[in-house]
Amino acid sequence: MELLEAIKTRRSIRDFTGEKIPDEHIELILDAARYAPSPENLQMWRYIVIREDQEMKDFIAEISMEMAREVFGGQPYELTQGRLWYLPDHMRPREFEDIRDGSLFSYPKYADTVVIGCASECFTDAHLSYNMQLFGSVVVAMGMLQMWLVAHSLGYGCGWMALAISDPRHREMICERLGIPRTWEPIGVLCIGVPKEKRMLGPSRFPMEGVFYSERWGNPYKRLAFRKMKEEGKENE
Ligand SMILES: Cc1cc2nc3c(=O)[nH]c(=O)nc-3n(C[C@H](O)[C@H](O)[C@H](O)COP(=O)(O)O)c2cc1C
Repeated sequence: MELLEAIKTRRSIRDFTGEKIPDEHIELILDAARYAPSPENLQMWRYIVIREDQEMKDFIAEISMEMAREVFGGQPYELTQGRLWYLPDHMRPREFEDIRDGSLFSYPKYADTVVIGCASECFTDAHLSYNMQLFGSVVVAMGMLQMWLVAHSLGYGCGWMALAISDPRHREMICERLGIPRTWEPIGVLCIGVPKEKRMLGPSRFPMEGVFYSERWGNPYKRLAFRKMKEEGKENE
């Protein structure tokens, strides 16, 4: 798959068949994370790769679901429907229910591999300190996205499960169970598996004019196509 195509067709996959992924493919996926950029090439990331420990996968699923019920469970249906605008009307109530009762987030159970990305601000011989707040998520996300894109290009699916580690008590429990030292912090959880089905594209992204400013804040970037239409006097078409 071409890189641009992989970038544009990647989606979050939250439904896995539970099938095994060949070790060679998992290794290709993991290896991609090593090539991610990091400040001064410090590579202050470590990844715990969970494949065999089903109890740990179940635990991650359970705490994610618990957190989802906490976060989404009390939200009035009418207020949050806008977030699912990209789904056809008839699918929304079901999807929303799955979000509220947490079942949408049970997928770590069925993932072939669950990767826990950790970062540290102590692991450095650099003069400048790269603090966790500014750099921790950044470095781990760089590696995770590389893995995500490689997995997708090989036909697998990934879901990023932040819910599992967004509560400090859950983070503590994960660190305790996996022996993560205090100097390292779990930043993200990437679940990799065989997708039950291909997902349609969307939620769509904001248009380029909405997220890029030209030269100054607030001055919308105009796509080439729009610029061309203007030149040709067709901008009102
Ligand atoms: C930092 C981060 C945290 C996320 N947290 C979760 C999560 O806890 N559970 C989940 O199922 N998806 C999570 N996602 C996936 C997003 O919901 C998803 O990327 C977004 O809705 C866009 O959809 P797409 O990935 O299918 O394009 C997260 C993504 C990122 C980058």
